[in-house]
Order: sequence, then C-alpha cells, then structure tokens
Amino acid sequence: MSKVIKLFYMVLLQLSPPGSSQLVTAADMTLSLGWFSALAAGVFSAHVLQKLLFPYFWRDLLFLMKVIRYGVRLELFKFTSSVCTVLDRFIQQAQRIPNKPFVIYDGSVHTYRDVEQRSNRLANVFFDRVGLRKGDCVALLMSNEPDFLCVWFGLAKVGCSVAFLNTNIKSKSLLHCFNCCGAKTLIVGSDLFECLDGIITSLLEDNIQVWAMNSQSEHTEVHTLLDKINTASDQPVPAVLRVTTSLKSPTLYIFTSGTTGLPKAAVITHLQSLKAAAGFWAFGATEDDVVYIPLPLYHSAASLIGIGGTIELGATCVLKKKFSASQFWNDCRKHNVTIFQYIGELCRYLCNQPKTEVDKFHKVRMGVGNGLRQDVWREFQSRFGNIKMCEVYGSTEGNLCFMNHIGKIGAVGRSNFFYRLLFKYELVKYDMQKDEPVKDECGFCQRVERGETGLLLSKVSTISPFFGYAGGKHLTEKKLMRNVFVKGDAYFITGDLMAEDYEGFICFRDRVGDTFRWKGENVATTEVTEILGLVDFIQEVNVYGVEIPGHEGRAGMAAMIIRPAHTFDGKKLFEHVMRDLPTYARPLFIRLQEFMEMTSTFKQQKFQLVQSGFNPSMISEPLYVLDYQQKNYIPLTDSIYQSILAGERKL
Ligand SMILES: *[C@@H]1O[C@H](CO)[C@@H](O)[C@H](O)[C@H]1NC(C)=O
Repeated sequence: MSKVIKLFYMVLLQLSPPGSSQLVTAADMTLSLGWFSALAAGVFSAHVLQKLLFPYFWRDLLFLMKVIRYGVRLELFKFTSSVCTVLDRFIQQAQRIPNKPFVIYDGSVHTYRDVEQRSNRLANVFFDRVGLRKGDCVALLMSNEPDFLCVWFGLAKVGCSVAFLNTNIKSKSLLHCFNCCGAKTLIVGSDLFECLDGIITSLLEDNIQVWAMNSQSEHTEVHTLLDKINTASDQPVPAVLRVTTSLKSPTLYIFTSGTTGLPKAAVITHLQSLKAAAGFWAFGATEDDVVYIPLPLYHSAASLIGIGGTIELGATCVLKKKFSASQFWNDCRKHNVTIFQYIGELCRYLCNQPKTEVDKFHKVRMGVGNGLRQDVWREFQSRFGNIKMCEVYGSTEGNLCFMNHIGKIGAVGRSNFFYRLLFKYELVKYDMQKDEPVKDECGFCQRVERGETGLLLSKVSTISPFFGYAGGKHLTEKKLMRNVFVKGDAYFITGDLMAEDYEGFICFRDRVGDTFRWKGENVATTEVTEILGLVDFIQEVNVYGVEIPGHEGRAGMAAMIIRPAHTFDGKKLFEHVMRDLPTYARPLFIRLQEFMEMTSTFKQQKFQLVQSGFNPSMISEPLYVLDYQQKNYIPLTDSIYQSILAGERKL
C-alpha cells in the first residue's frame, strides 16, 4: 500500500505547474503528504470496491489532487506572509522566458519581455507623473488590446488596485462606478474617449483625474499618457511597492450587475485571482498551449482565468478585440490555437456559420467557459471534432466554483465525496411562484433530494470566504442568507437553480429573482427598471426575461402601466433605451398592462409573466418589439413573432 501512495505522490509532483518547483519547500512536501495520506486512507477505506467500479473515480482523484496541491501552495503563503501574486508570477516568467510570445494581437507579437518593459515604463509614469501611490484605486476603461495588460500590470507594480469598467456601460452607471470603488483616477483607451462625452465635466467636478492613452488631447483638463510613456525608463519600479503580505488584500474590482440596482464592484483579492489563474492548469493545459481569448478583458473570465491562466502556465495567448464568428477558425489555424475561452452564445454563433471542408482541420483541443447548452454542445463537437469542453461555474464575487473536468455534456460541474468535504454547498427547495426559498416550520431551509432542482447556496467559511462588494456593507449582506440550517450560519446566495444527479454531475437549470443572462452578460432587472422609470409616460414597470427558442439565456421584456392621460410612445422609449442602456440590457419586448399583480410578499409577480412569454396570439394585452431599423418599438405582430421563432429576425 505504501508503494501505491508513493507512486501517486510521484504522479502528483509531475502534475505541478511548470516553473513552480522552486516553490516546493520541505514544508510543502510534508503538508501535501499529510493531505495525501489522509486522502489515501479515505480512498482505501470501506468504499474502495464500490468506488473502483465508479467510472470517473481515477480522473476525479487526479483532478482533486491538483486542486488540493494548489490549495496547499496558497495556504503556505499564509504561513510565510509572502504572497506570490499573479503579477509576481508574470515577472518571474518574463525572466524565465523573455523571448516567448505572451500576447498575439492583430497580427503582432508581444513577448513576455515586451509587456514587462512597457508595463515598467507605465509604472514609472504612474509613479512620477500621475502621482499614484500604493493603495490607490484606479479605474480602467479600455477595450481588449495589449495596452490593457500593460496598464493593468503597470498599476499593480506601483501597488494600485484596478477597477475594470465595462465598456458597454452608459454614462449614468459609469459615474456610479467611481463612487463604489473610490477611484480618483481614470485611464481611458484612445478608442473609448468619446464614451466620456456626456460625463467628462461631472468627472472633473468630482475631482477625478482623467488620463487618456493619447499623445495629445483636445480637452485641456484631460492628461495624455502615450507621449510620456515613450520617454519613461523601462527599468522596474522598486519591488517593495507591489509587495503584499495578505492573500485577502484586494487587487481588482470587477463590476457585476448583481441582483439589485446599479452595477456593483466585486472585490477581487489575490486569493481569488490566484485560484482562477490555476484553471487552465487544472484542466490539463501546459506551457505549449496557445489560448484564444475573444471575451472582454473587463470580465473575470478573460482577465482572471484567461490572462492569469496564460501567465501561470507561461503559455501564449491570442487576444481578440472583439469576437468574430467568421474569423474564429482561421485565427485558430493561423496561430495554432489549442485552447479557447467561450460563453455559450459564442459556440452557437460558430455552429451557425456556413459549413466548410476544413471545419475539423485545426489544433483546438479544449474549450473553457460557461453556459453551453446540451444541443449546441453536441452539434459543436460533431461538427468541429472532439474538442473537450470544460465548463466552469462560479460568479465573479462568489466563493464557490465548480469545474466539469470530465467534459460530460450538459453539466456545469462535478462533485464527489471529497469535493463535498472541501466545499460546503447546498441545494435548497425553492418556490418559483413566491420567488423565495421554502422554509420549514422553524424557519430553516430544506435540502432537495438528489436529482431535484434547488437554489444553490455556498457556505461562508475560512476556506471559502466571501469578500463582498466595495462601498457598502448592505450590498454584501443582501447576497448572504443567515440562519439557513442552524442559528448563526451564513451562506452566499448564488441565485442559480441547479440539480445534482446520482453520479455527482451538477447541471444548471435557471436563475432566480432579479437577474437573467442575455448575450453573455448579466442583466439586472432592477437597474433596467430604474432607468425605464425615468420615461415620463411610464407609471410602473416590471422587467423580466423570456426564453426564445434557439437562444441562450433570456431576452429582456418589460411589462408597464402607462400614466393616466399619457400614451405609449415607442420612438421616445427607443431613444431612451438607446442612450441609457447597454445593448444586452435593452428590453426586446414591451407588454402594456392595466394593473400589475403582486406576490404575497409584495414583490412584483414575475413568474406568470415569464411563463406567458411574448406570443401575440396568446396574450390579449398590447405587445411591442424593439426595431433597430425603424428606430422604434413597433407592434409585435404574428408574422414578426414567427420570424423571431424561425431565427430570421436579428435580435
Ligand atoms: C503551426 O504549426 C505548424 C506545424 O506544426 C508549423 O509549421 C507552423 O509554423 C506553426 N505556426 C505558428 C504560427 O506557430
């Protein structure tokens, strides 16, 4: 038996991330060995025969070993009070493999050294010219481009935390974003400068310094960076500026449209970014992989998993400004891409492209992402070859993560006996009509049976802390449920309805409450409600998402009551949503109502509205549909309805 243990330990060492061997200390060995023996003892206990018959047993075990091994490495940072952050890792890689391509963008290659030196220049400018100091928070409004990374790393090198702004966000929400993370400086990409048109004076009034990635600026108050970068030194700023002693100190703020109100700044600590950076590695990626990143960098998927993961491996990534279905495979062939990041929608767009002879000619072996539906998954694999699709489940701010490392179609994650020991999550009964969890007579939640759908809750503990949101304890409290099973416990409310089958595969069913997903973005119904409420003819509005066959997520729909003595003005509404809402959040359908039903807890009744959908022949109330050509909300006729179902109308 001890031989077997030794053998496994050897395997485990083989699986360590490249270049990490210098991090393996004696303490690490004993700790891992301790973990390992404990695990091995568990494995070879009474369950052994039964488990051996289990088809995923060994793959589960190996995967779990990796997770634990990485976890031990993070635990060690706590003991030694010296954290090797993702930035430190980048600097190490830049010394180890300076000439290796790090980012390929728009045909040009940026090596690890290139990005290291340019971020040094930026760090020097930030320190000397902008006057940024350790602990400052800086907002970043940039599209996908290599300079996004150079600015990000440059800021991190002088010890600043960075708030990534969603480039789709409209003026009103943008102003709000500064308040929640306390940023006093904004860095804006040259192509996005016009986004600021409406708000530049408000920003300056709030004493926010604006720095543009330009050489010259028309506004005298807006500073320029490009001219200063070229004359700055490419020598590193003192390392002491970036040193961090705690895994729990914030490094990034990533905005999420959570469940209530305007976007919230999720606090991303070093702990979360290091965990996310291990994702590709845990799925079996190596430094020879080439990662294709077509997702926006201001989301955690691209920045934490994509860029962080590339750095962790010492691999190369191909960064796209914007996803393009028609360029996707040519890009992959041209750059020998082996791994790509996706959201479910993206794979569907790829399947909708005209078939070609060379559909299966490429080196892509793995996709990592979220939200892939079963039917698209099957079609994708039969058309483009046996690409392993690894679903990752986990919200930016959440404290729980599932990974479907087996690649089983339809599952977002995989759980087993050991996983449940490490991560305390629960599925509880949920009442869809009342829009709240089912409670027993003592006021506690009830677990669902295996295979049943329930609301996913994740226990907040020292192994799985929840860092909450910047700028308001009440925001954080809202995402927590207390006294769930016993007095005094606390769980993070994911807002997702899930089911776990008998084999331990976890499947996503639906989102509850105030958010839905559309075009890969979270839409917060309260935010949309708030913005529609500003239109003068609307008295009351209720926003929800409806399913459209053949589309991922839900399309926005708003039921509304018109003020007395007013009429519905589609053109006016159109102009309003175009100006104040990002594309994905604009309601596609409008339903006029005489009165609105409430739930027993005085919330707006959404369930029945969602169920009744947008079929004009089933709904007697007037329906309208967003029409970009006529720049108007026009009556939703049967023929328009049919063309939407047939996928002929662009949504
Ligand atoms: C891709 O791989 C092929 C064959 O393995 C090689 O000839 C080619 O140079 C590679 N292309 C790039 C961009 O690395």
